Amino acid sequence: MTENIIYTKLKTAYNDLVKKIDFKPELAITLGSGLGKLADVVDVEQEISYSDIEGFPVSTAPGHKGRFVFTHIHGIPTVIMQGRVHRYEGYSASDTVIPTRLMGMMGAKTLIVTNAAGGVNKNFSIGDLMIIRDHLTQFVESPLMGPNVKELGTRFPDMTEVYNKEYSDTIEKLAKQKGISVQNGVYCQFSGPAYETPAEVRMASILGVDAVGMSTAIEAMAAKHMGMKVCGISLITNLATGISEVELSEQEVIEAGENASKYFIDLVLDFIKTLK
Ligand code: HPA
Repeated sequence: MTENIIYTKLKTAYNDLVKKIDFKPELAITLGSGLGKLADVVDVEQEISYSDIEGFPVSTAPGHKGRFVFTHIHGIPTVIMQGRVHRYEGYSASDTVIPTRLMGMMGAKTLIVTNAAGGVNKNFSIGDLMIIRDHLTQFVESPLMGPNVKELGTRFPDMTEVYNKEYSDTIEKLAKQKGISVQNGVYCQFSGPAYETPAEVRMASILGVDAVGMSTAIEAMAAKHMGMKVCGISLITNLATGISEVELSEQEVIEAGENASKYFIDLVLDFIKTLK
């Protein structure tokens, strides 16, 4: 039988990780740009830098630390990905989702994925949280391309409900109770690293997109493929190109993340309480 190179790569990283870390997470959280502080407020029980895991794609993006943190949140064993890996750093889509798949292979059944995004919906304001209800991912290569890893999931996985409705409804309800400005919408992953042009944002709007970014959709797809329950929250850090009157900068994105950090962390922690 021919070797499945994608699975071999995953197994190499997995075997190395479980040799170094003795922890069985039930919950996984991926933190987006400027939202990394959540990992700083928990009790770090174990941690490992991505660069210490064999074959792991290492993040080079600004504002991304690059480690797995292992902790208990409200008693739930949790792995936090502080700093994600992006497709635009030059990794293939299937390499980009290695971290997500590893968290699932370690035992996580639920994934909370977060990101910074540009608001396309004209009703959105900077600082809003958007519950991701669905996504467009066809502008970037599929992370499931290549030989299927049948140990994880089926060749043609259904994507009717990538983002778990019950969890998303709970997050929305909690956000409203807390007085956080919350929106629901469709997220579109573009390739980056350049921000979109005004024409691309107009196209996204016509296609029903509410927010654009450079991550998340392929991670959510890989997690769904392996049967994880996924929920996603975007922080609207800026209005997308052409809607915004100012040029976009990474500084603006990081600052908006820092400003939202407190209510974002509160909301995520409150949601985790409901998972007990
Ligand atoms: N576009 C793409 N990615 C982003 C944006 C944006 O406007 N804001 C934060 N991440």
